[in-house]
Amino acid sequence: MEIIRSIEAFKSFRTGWPSSNTADLCFVPTMGALHSGHLSLVEEARKFSQYVVVSIFVNPTQFGQGEDYEEYPRQMKKDIDQLKNLGVGAVFIPCDNQMYPLGYRTNVLVEKWERRLCGHSRPNHFRGVTTVVLKLFNIVRPTVAFFGQKDAQQAILINRMTEDLNLDVEIFVCPIIREKDGLAISSRNRYLSAQERQAAVVLFRTLNWAIQQVDRGERKVKVLVNEMKKKIKAEPLAHLDYVSIVDPNDLKPILRLNRTALLALAVFIGKTRLIDNTILLPEKSSSVSKESVL
Ligand code: PAF
Repeated sequence: MEIIRSIEAFKSFRTGWPSSNTADLCFVPTMGALHSGHLSLVEEARKFSQYVVVSIFVNPTQFGQGEDYEEYPRQMKKDIDQLKNLGVGAVFIPCDNQMYPLGYRTNVLVEKWERRLCGHSRPNHFRGVTTVVLKLFNIVRPTVAFFGQKDAQQAILINRMTEDLNLDVEIFVCPIIREKDGLAISSRNRYLSAQERQAAVVLFRTLNWAIQQVDRGERKVKVLVNEMKKKIKAEPLAHLDYVSIVDPNDLKPILRLNRTALLALAVFIGKTRLIDNTILLPEKSSSVSKESVL
C-alpha cells in the first residue's frame, strides 16, 4: 500500500494507474479516525475494483467556530494499519497548506440545499465539504466514490454537485453501520461519557418509533415530528437540534407522507452533536436505514 503525502506525488502515482476506460478507480474520502463505518465503505470499494484510494484529511473548512476541529480524533498509525489489511492501493494524506495554500479563494457550494437540515446550525459546513470533495476528486480522479448514508445530506449534496458540474464520478452510498443497540457508528461517539453513550440510543429509538408509525399507516408529518420531539425531550441528557422529514430529491420539508421521504435528526447529547436518519417508505413497510438516499 502506497502512502502518499503530497498532491504532486499523488498525481505522478496516479499516472501509473489505469485510465477510466480500462478499470474503475474507487475512492473513499475520509477524515481518518477510521471505524467500522469507514471500513465498510472501503470493503464495498474493494468489491468494485482492485484500485482503491482512501484519503485522510481533517478538513478545517468544514468545521465552524467553536466546533471540534482541534479535538477531532487523529490516529494516523492505527488508520494506516487498518487500511493495509483491506487491500487498499494507496492512502493519500495531504496537509492543510497544500490543500489551502496562502491566497486560496475558491469555494463550491450547492445553493440553498447547503442551508437545509444540518446547514441551519452549521452554516458553512457543506460549503467546506463540497469544496474539499471537489478538490480531492480533481486530484484522485476516481470513477466511483463512496459515501455513507449516515451523512445523508452530505451524500445528496455531493451527488448534486457531481451532476451539476458534469464530473465523471459515480457516487455510491453505503448503509449506516450501527452498534448492537442501534447507535449509528461515528467518530464523535468517542466524546460520549458512559452515561451519555446510553442516552445516545434515543436517536435510534426515535427513528424506529417513526418507522413503526408509518408502517401502521400514519401519514401526517406534523404528528410524527411533534411526537419525536417529545421523545427526545424526555431524555434528560439530550437536546434537540432538529428533526425533519424531507423530500430526498431537494431536502424540502413535506407535509404528508405519500412517497419516499428522508427522516433526519440531529441531537446534542451533552456537548456532542450526533446525527442519524432513515428512509421512510410509506408504500411498503421499512426498517431503519436499509435504503439509500440516492
Ligand atoms: O464524511 C467525511 O468524513 C467528510 O465530510 C469528507 C467527505 C471526507 C470531506 O472532508
